[in-house]
Amino acid sequence: MITVIANLKGGSGKSTVAFNLAVWLERNGRRVVGYDLDPQCTFSDLGMLRKEIGNKPDLNIQSVRAVLGEQLVAHRDCEVLVDVGAANMAAMKEAMTSADRILVPVPPSQADVWATQRFLHIVGPDMEAVSMNGRHRTMAFVNRADTNKSIRETHETEEALRMLPGIDEVMPHRLKMRTGFRRSLSEGLAVFEMWPRSKAADEFRALAAALYPDVTGQLN
Ligand SMILES: Nc1ncnc2c1ncn2[C@@H]1O[C@H](COP(=O)(O)OP(=O)(O)OP(=O)(O)O)[C@@H](O)[C@H]1O
Ligand SMILES: [Mg+2]
Repeated sequence: MITVIANLKGGSGKSTVAFNLAVWLERNGRRVVGYDLDPQCTFSDLGMLRKEIGNKPDLNIQSVRAVLGEQLVAHRDCEVLVDVGAANMAAMKEAMTSADRILVPVPPSQADVWATQRFLHIVGPDMEAVSMNGRHRTMAFVNRADTNKSIRETHETEEALRMLPGIDEVMPHRLKMRTGFRRSLSEGLAVFEMWPRSKAADEFRALAAALYPDVTGQLN
């Protein structure tokens, strides 16, 4: 399965989600091939940091300026995760042409809904024309959701995302604003490795299991 994690706006959680997914998949016995198309190199730096510290399993994440659709398709027997950045739109579009799905993390705010709408508008027509897999599935979910239930933005963001043409599914699996995500990254660890019993870990495992329902065992 080729999953591209994308959105235009910085800080929506693309690299955090890509890294945690890569670790979760490897720990559940899947082979992961990661591509980091963002010049900031966060995804690949996290893989390197993990290796330097000696955290297992190692991750195979390459930092590249561009990746051809054919290269991604060649890894069909692996779980392919591609982290992209707005700084490299051409590479982002190229990677998307062969994706099975686009995973779009969206923080809960009107500005982020607009940014997501713009993102879909920019990539949508090109994707329709050149997609190698037929049209891929575009799945959005709220990341950095408010922990306080009385704050309405998360719900409103999900409602707004459901109205956007180009979004096939708004996943109900929110990741809330949890400092564990930030802290675990600085140790080269996934949040469920550092704090397996935390709410952040529970939320992440629920999201990952929904994205990969055929992963058995569901180890953390
Ligand atoms: N659910 C969350 N709760 C708390 N912090 C989070 C959460 N998700 C991401 N973060 C933190 O927010 C910051 C930005 O996340 P990240 O780097 O993953 O975003 P990004 O979309 O990859 O940004 P960029 O577009 O700049 O590459 C990081 O410090 C990350 O640890
Ligand atoms: Mg990033």
